[in-house]
Amino acid sequence: MNSYRIEKPFALVIFGASGDLAKLKLFPALYSMVEQKRLPKEYYIVGYARTKIEKEVFQKEFSDSIKNHFKKHPKDLNEKILKDLTSRVSYVSGQYNKLEDFKNLRKYLSKITSNKEITTLAYFSVPPQVFQDIIENLGETKRHENEDLRLILEKPFGEDTESARELFHFVARYFKEENVYLLDHYLGKGAVQSLLHLRHSNRLINMMMKGPEVSNIQITAFEKIGVTTRAGYFDQVGTIKDMVQSHLLQILALITMSIPITENAASLHREKYSILSALKFIESKKNIVLGQYESYIEEKDIPKNSKTETFSAMRLFIDRESWYKTPIYIRTGKKLHEKHTYVVVELKKFAFQPKEEEPNRLIFELQPEERINIRLVNKQGQTSHYQEITTSDTLSCTGDDCLPEHAMLLLDVIRKRRLHFLSFEEIIATWEITDTILAFIEKSKLKPEKYVDFSPGPESQDQLTSIDDFKWFDIH
Ligand SMILES: NC(=O)c1ccc[n+]([C@@H]2O[C@H](COP(=O)([O-])OP(=O)(O)OC[C@H]3O[C@@H](n4cnc5c(N)ncnc54)[C@H](OP(=O)(O)O)[C@@H]3O)[C@@H](O)[C@H]2O)c1
Repeated sequence: MNSYRIEKPFALVIFGASGDLAKLKLFPALYSMVEQKRLPKEYYIVGYARTKIEKEVFQKEFSDSIKNHFKKHPKDLNEKILKDLTSRVSYVSGQYNKLEDFKNLRKYLSKITSNKEITTLAYFSVPPQVFQDIIENLGETKRHENEDLRLILEKPFGEDTESARELFHFVARYFKEENVYLLDHYLGKGAVQSLLHLRHSNRLINMMMKGPEVSNIQITAFEKIGVTTRAGYFDQVGTIKDMVQSHLLQILALITMSIPITENAASLHREKYSILSALKFIESKKNIVLGQYESYIEEKDIPKNSKTETFSAMRLFIDRESWYKTPIYIRTGKKLHEKHTYVVVELKKFAFQPKEEEPNRLIFELQPEERINIRLVNKQGQTSHYQEITTSDTLSCTGDDCLPEHAMLLLDVIRKRRLHFLSFEEIIATWEITDTILAFIEKSKLKPEKYVDFSPGPESQDQLTSIDDFKWFDIH
């Protein structure tokens, strides 16, 4: 059991509390933290946004969003906990770019905490264009230089290398990096966190995941849904920025990095950076495939002539001695035949093994199932067939220790654990490779290939793996 209860009081201010992320993820995460008795006796939750509403109206929105979260299993909702939690929630309305409004917020926080100096968490649940205003005004209204004020910024961090750099320089004017938590919610997923723990604790797995042993790595993240409520945002960015730039490159780093001896954040960030900064995209149309599902341009808020990719697949390399010959294939898309995120590490075969014999595979399933399995080839009689050995049938937590990803990460911030957050350098490195790929797409005038809704995606994705004589591995 690793149940951890916070003892010290804190105040959480959610900027953009009127928005989707707050309602869909943060409020239910707070409920689960209270339900699992993780929060201290004294804590304050303050919503902040421009929308002018009364505290009671906000409390109702807060409570309704949690009820909505339980709509399939209403009996699992504990009304007493919800009532107590809701009663601790309050709301301050203000602009993001007005210093006066932040002074008011400060006064309000002092009032509800009886002027005690407690840890304050500022959650940026707003679009990135508002980040700098909030950072500046929080910086300008700090009580003093060493105030315990922690910023939680959720990806996307900028829209390219230059804007990410600018954002980090801007933050650094007001806050030390140790007070800034850069969040990619994929790193809050139990199965993604398990990648690290599995590699740290199992020599067997680690020995299999060495460059010279691995013939190729495949990362697949398929979604069945199309663009939903965030159509406007998605059409501006596409899958490469939305999925690959942070979520999938982070997974790639966790799979291929050297294992840090100590499981501390600085060592982990260093190892991940070492991989991410060595990623290489060889500029050729053969190394990238873009797709767009057929009904995309009929979706609400999507321009009829949109060329945004809803599917992308790419072939990358890691420019390091141990990995330089190992192709890494990444593919992700929307409105595909299945919802599935998994990583396949294919091991090399012996030179004497017949070409048609399947390789050994190490498979990490991250979504919707969370499990790891190792596929070994065994021969019975004249035919060789797979014997699947499931070393751990589930990577997901069970029982009382389960928390949704935003709750896990919020607890980490409160505990000052930075292991599952990103460093400035890692983010810059992922933007650099993303910019290289996007610049190539633009230069070569590559357009997305249409694919049938709910199909496995564009057919040309197979050309990518066939360059090296491999095939995408589909789990069914
Ligand atoms: N929603 C998700 O599932 C999701 C997933 C991953 C990451 N994110 C990231 O999390 C952040 C918040 O997402 P969200 O979906 O909650 O965003 P959102 O609903 O578009 O915005 C949140 C709130 O910010 C304020 N706002 C919106 N546009 C603004 C603008 N142009 N200028 C100033 N204020 C504005 C609005 O509140 P007021 O008008 O009341 O101030 C809005 O309710 C974004 O950075 C997003 O990229 C979201």
